[in-house]
Amino acid sequence: SEGGSLYDRIGPDALAALVRRFYARVAADPDLTPIFPADLTLTAEKQYAFLTGFLGGPPLYHERFGHPRLRARHLPHEITPTRARAWLGCMNAALRETPEIGEADARELYAALARVAAHMVNTPEPGR
Ligand code: HEM
Repeated sequence: SEGGSLYDRIGPDALAALVRRFYARVAADPDLTPIFPADLTLTAEKQYAFLTGFLGGPPLYHERFGHPRLRARHLPHEITPTRARAWLGCMNAALRETPEIGEADARELYAALARVAAHMVNTPEPGR
């Protein structure tokens, strides 16, 4: 579809479905489970709030949790290139499970997230 922000085109319901499917994947990914909490409820709420603003919707994350400072908030977690790939793999799978988001919008969203994910890498691969 055309016009408006990615948020306007995707809408809150499809975005919430995407986030739910994404964290179901994360919870089952052996590269990611070591660094995520067992209960992903709050993590998913934060991600939904963040993505809402990131995609051009209301600034929910900022209102509830302050400035995102995403790279700083990720520093306590060892994010290797492998983990960034795993994160993006979960997102790609979740997008394919969410046909409510059209293909062009899904591609645009994925490309934007891939840029942020590359910026979150803060640890080299182990065993080098
Ligand atoms: C939080 C991992 C990329 C957005 C977290 C947490 C982990 C994590 C372990 C803490 C979860 C918690 O304690 O609740 C990763 C990994 C990534 C990645 C391995 C791979 C590159 C991204 C990207 C975004 C993002 C690309 C945004 C598009 C967030 C947000 C939070 C978060 C908004 C919540 C921050 C807070 O308020 O505590 N991430 N992340 N992450 N991540 Fe990521």
